[in-house]
Amino acid sequence: MALTTLRRDGDIAFLGLNRPDKHNALDQAMVDELGAALLNLRRSPCIVVLCSETPGIFAAGADIAELLERDSDAGLRGINAMLFEQLEAHPWPTIAAIDGPALGGGCELAMACDFRLVSPRARFGQPELSLGIMAGAGGNWRLQQLVGLPLARRMLYAGETLDATAAVSAGLADGIHEPSVLLDEAAAYARRIAGRSWRALELTKAALRIHRPATTLYDMTAQALLFDSSDKRERMSRFLRERAARRGARKEAER
Ligand code: COA
Repeated sequence: MALTTLRRDGDIAFLGLNRPDKHNALDQAMVDELGAALLNLRRSPCIVVLCSETPGIFAAGADIAELLERDSDAGLRGINAMLFEQLEAHPWPTIAAIDGPALGGGCELAMACDFRLVSPRARFGQPELSLGIMAGAGGNWRLQQLVGLPLARRMLYAGETLDATAAVSAGLADGIHEPSVLLDEAAAYARRIAGRSWRALELTKAALRIHRPATTLYDMTAQALLFDSSDKRERMSRFLRERAARRGARKEAER
């Protein structure tokens, strides 16, 4: 089964995350599919609506089973960081439609889009530090750009999460809609933007991007250091052990 879907409707490209059994956790295969799709979508003007194929889910971050195995070499490749740079560099605006938790790399993925429209089921958080790593795929700077330094500190250091209403108040989300109309609202907003000049949109987006901080190389290097730590191994192994125990208990109960 494909881990992503792509549907074009005139000026809008719907790019869907499709790994429901792992809450759309981003593994290398999914990153590759998203990267290939984005490359393809640069060929002609379009607004990208990034969404999930599964109601109630957005993305649970990088795949922890894969992260556990990633070492400093992998860290320096910046697998997610580079994908999110590519997404941010889509020449025309992008909209994330978020109908569930957007955690870790899922939050960073959403923040690499120009807009975030949410349902009441959306939730944002950066739990990386509890796993022995950091929000090294843009979270360290995109979050503070959107919500300001004090709240970014609380989310990054202490693991505070924001529900949909708090995310709108903080500037992390641009609007709330019921799950049943979320995608329609994202499409309507995309159409509104698409009615304007593509070239002027492209140049305005480029103008706004010129002012972004250039910390990606630091983030990738620091993450590479953390990828080799025993603290990371222990914390991620604990997450995977807990999930395996839950899986076992579920299977037992189903018998
Ligand atoms: N990487 C790999 N697998 C993940 C994952 C991740 N980031 N997040 C969730 N999953 C998997 C779980 O292992 C489980 O699979 P399994 O049943 O085969 O073990 C499945 O997705 C569903 O997750 P589960 O935790 O059982 O669902 P839930 O509804 O109780 O909770 C979340 C959903 C998203 C809140 C919870 O899974 C979670 O906190 N995930 C980790 C988020 C995180 O720390 N992300 C940062 C990564 S850097």
